[in-house]
Amino acid sequence: MKEYSVKLSILKTLSQGGFHSGEELGDKLGISRAAISKHIKGIQGWGVDVFSVQGKGYQLAKPIQLLDQGVLQNNLANNVELIPIIDSTNQYLLDRVDSLESGSVCLAEYQAKGRGRRGREWVSPFGSNLYLSMFWRLDAGIAAALGLSLVVGVAIVEALEDMGLTSVKLKWPNDLYYQDKKLAGILVEMSGQAGAAANIVIGMGLNLMMSEATQGITQPWASLFEVAKNQEIDRNQLAITMITTLHRTLDEYERYGMSGFVEKWNRLDNFINRPVTLLIGSKEITGIARGINEQGAVLLETENGLESYIGGEISLRSRQ
Ligand code: ATP
Ligand code: BTN
Repeated sequence: MKEYSVKLSILKTLSQGGFHSGEELGDKLGISRAAISKHIKGIQGWGVDVFSVQGKGYQLAKPIQLLDQGVLQNNLANNVELIPIIDSTNQYLLDRVDSLESGSVCLAEYQAKGRGRRGREWVSPFGSNLYLSMFWRLDAGIAAALGLSLVVGVAIVEALEDMGLTSVKLKWPNDLYYQDKKLAGILVEMSGQAGAAANIVIGMGLNLMMSEATQGITQPWASLFEVAKNQEIDRNQLAITMITTLHRTLDEYERYGMSGFVEKWNRLDNFINRPVTLLIGSKEITGIARGINEQGAVLLETENGLESYIGGEISLRSRQ
């Protein structure tokens, strides 16, 4: 049995709700109460809020709906792998690009080394968010990858709108925002040579019900349950919708590229017509954000007129 299988079994029992004693959990798994207590500490280390009451046992502070490989696979044509505990779903697919078919998906409940752009950390507590990646072989090659991350962002926001989850916005090039707080990030990574088809992995981290006590995030963040107000969100259904949306968007991008895309982006741009700073290496350029152009470059109204900026090393920051 893998080291974390015991913890997953304990979590499965706890996710049914109510209290479960160390004795009951131990009997079920054929291990001692002391061993259960050690595993509970490990589970807490994954970011799950479990508390214990003497004489009653352990309970989850908030219910968790686990992802279900069977439900996901039955509702998707894609090849789906749910790997509950992983380093990074993007890395998992990148390591296997030679044997995967386009559209293959990897999902996780917890990432030990979830990452954002330029190696920054993506904080990935167990069972409270969505972490998913899709592999795609892009005939247009690596030059088309920036456009891809913009197009995917718009499609995801539109899919949320279709579910009645409105007011989600975009920050160039790869973030979803809600009320000026980061709700999700999209990370496009690739392997391949210039001129040849590119092996692309598109990863998305979407916060659903992350605990306020979560450590390690250095900027304001939001969860989808704030956006949803009282509407219930089924995690498996949401994952299915996100995967279907990603697949459809990649198909369409291969066929139509970015035609007609600028207006769609600009409607959802969180910073349009607001004062911003662009960070390009050690250089800072200030101006008013004016959305994007047809190449997917960010537009900035500066003292020198309207300027466009494109490239992977640029970060946009609000000045308000
Ligand atoms: P940019 O990409 O424009 O430089 P960014 O600061 O958001 O913007 P990214 O690399 O895109 O940087 O994302 C990683 C950052 O996101 C981390 O430095 C952290 O502050 C934040 N972050 C990490 N995990 C989460 C999370 N689960 N939810 C929201 N924000 C997170
Ligand atoms: C960002 O905002 O910079 C992008 C964050 C992307 C996070 C997702 S979670 C699933 C996939 N696996 C990773 O390691 N990162 C992406």
